[in-house]
Amino acid sequence: MVLPETPIFMTIPLLICIAGQFLVAQSEPNTSVNLLWCNLNGYSQEEVYASSVADVLMDLVNVTPNLKGFKYRTVAGNALAVSFGHATCNEALSNVDCADCLSVAKDAVTTGCRNSVGGRMELVDCGIRYENYPI
Ligand SMILES: *[C@@H]1O[C@H](CO)[C@@H](O)[C@H](O)[C@H]1NC(C)=O
Repeated sequence: MVLPETPIFMTIPLLICIAGQFLVAQSEPNTSVNLLWCNLNGYSQEEVYASSVADVLMDLVNVTPNLKGFKYRTVAGNALAVSFGHATCNEALSNVDCADCLSVAKDAVTTGCRNSVGGRMELVDCGIRYENYPI
């Protein structure tokens, strides 16, 4: 690829470019699944609790990446249907990688624990959980 006659001023940018791709790849969050756990109690999608769950998960994904330490607890809903949430990211991640990881975790717990009153998705680099009781 780097021919002997290639001038040095072309070779160096090429090497920087190749090295840069490795650095970008390394900074991606690891979203391999460690654990998926769903509360065995269910609810029907029509119930107001469904919107409490959607709200609590959205809040976790939006706020956690902006907090020092990447740990956040929150609550959503009204007195009839409260959902409690908790999220964390690996502290070594950037804010953007934490957000990306939690977004994957949110989608996975939403799909994996459909209609459960609680769910917990632990990925290698982040985790998200919601329940109908304080956590
Ligand atoms: C993500 O973590 C898992 C479990 O620790 C590991 O086996 C896998 O190689 C990691 N993937 C990447 C891309 O680092």
